[in-house]
Amino acid sequence: MILRLITMALRVVILAAGQGKRMNSDLPKVLHRLGGKSLLEHVIHTALKLNPDQPPVIVHGHQGELLHSRLGHYSPHWVKQDQQLGTGHALLQALPEIEDSDQVLVLYGDVPLISAATLKKLINNQTAAASLGMLTAHLPVPQGYGRIKRNEQGQIIRVIEEKDATPDERKITEINSGIYCLSGSNLKKWLPQLRPQNAQGEYYLTDIITMAVNENVSINTIQPTYTEEILGINDRLQLAQLERFYQQQLAEQLMLQGVTIADPARLDLRCDEIKIGRDVFIDINVVFEGSIMIGDGCIIGPQVVLRNTELGKRVEIKANSVIDGAEIAADAVIGPFARIRPGTMLGERVHIGNFVEVKNSMIAQETKINHLSYVGDSEIGARVNIGAGTITCNYDGVNKHKTIIEDDVHVGSDTQLIAPVYVGKGATIAAGSTIREDVPPYHLALTQTLTPRHIKEWKRPEKLK
Ligand code: UD1
Ligand code: CA
Repeated sequence: MILRLITMALRVVILAAGQGKRMNSDLPKVLHRLGGKSLLEHVIHTALKLNPDQPPVIVHGHQGELLHSRLGHYSPHWVKQDQQLGTGHALLQALPEIEDSDQVLVLYGDVPLISAATLKKLINNQTAAASLGMLTAHLPVPQGYGRIKRNEQGQIIRVIEEKDATPDERKITEINSGIYCLSGSNLKKWLPQLRPQNAQGEYYLTDIITMAVNENVSINTIQPTYTEEILGINDRLQLAQLERFYQQQLAEQLMLQGVTIADPARLDLRCDEIKIGRDVFIDINVVFEGSIMIGDGCIIGPQVVLRNTELGKRVEIKANSVIDGAEIAADAVIGPFARIRPGTMLGERVHIGNFVEVKNSMIAQETKINHLSYVGDSEIGARVNIGAGTITCNYDGVNKHKTIIEDDVHVGSDTQLIAPVYVGKGATIAAGSTIREDVPPYHLALTQTLTPRHIKEWKRPEKLK
């Protein structure tokens, strides 16, 4: 029997056809986001962890095209349930995708935090191919859930939906998560027998428990590690509560790995991928998105947003900086109030100061751009100093052009570099210059008039009445 279990293929089915009315949203419920990923995406990821070779079957209802366009890259097997006639009816739609020999795992698109570890326990706990595994939990407030009814020996005899339960049955605190693991052959036998004879007039998937009991199929129950794993999202309050739980868990993992977090309640991680080294300090109100790599010893100041960014060792990002799509080498210091945009690579010990915007530029080591500048589509060498208020005029209204500045250049304050333009090694640009032509190495370029013009007794215009 054990051998047979091992050879059974795992088939994950995700039920996601419910409308999610209580979200009061134009977006299907399962596309709402938690930790930056849609609810359904969380469940797909977990399904793929359990069986990387076989994408899950997803039963969906309305707005199928939107789901396909957002999640099609996971290549799930889409199944449409035209009318939402209940959980049993939903799973029935997936039957053509299921083999008798499959081990079927039923998950829900709006129960995002179910963990692969708990599900593995559920699957491995199956004593026989024909047994039925289910995930239950003891909730102090069981309202809204189906209750688990057991006999005196403690064996499950049925699941009662709240709307069908007597006042006494409603006092039961063991609830049905709705997550089951069972053989394809049992499913094919039981699902067509479901009848909508209950308070809601729905095809209840829970009625298969009664069928299993009647056929003496053994039923194993497992509890999740955290109750939050089985919580479903029906409205935006529950979404926010689960988001906080999820963020707390991620923050705890990072702290245990050696990251100091000023306040785990004020860090938000919306990442596909995150790697953080040791002795990193993260101040309050920080948001990370996409793919984030942070080297040892970095300091992330308050109110910082990092998206798709890689930081070398000991980089300091000061308060209120927004960094997107950048690679920043060791010992660089960025901010406060800096904005770094996609395509930017900063070398070691580069300093980017306040109110500086850098876009699609390579800046070599030890260069400083400390105040009020825009640097776009540029290549800047090492040890360059860019004075306050310098602008690379990279856009002629039609096309973008490049600015190239070689090593050891000194750019005076309030300079405009009209791209395409080249500044040779060691050149100096006087403050207030407008550079339209290339500057040869070691030259001084100055374009402002050297003879100051003063107009005596200048009268300001009078204010019009
Ligand atoms: C179900 C269980 C209940 C359990 C609870 C756990 C049944 C009859 N009841 O109740 O015992 O405690 O989940 O959260 O199964 N869905 C479809 N098509 C449908 C109906 C539902 O795809 O026609 C999907 C929904 O999108 C949702 C899931 O199935 O993801 C659960 O449906 P829902 O209506 O929320 O079931 P509950 O009444 O909460
Ligand atoms: Ca529900």
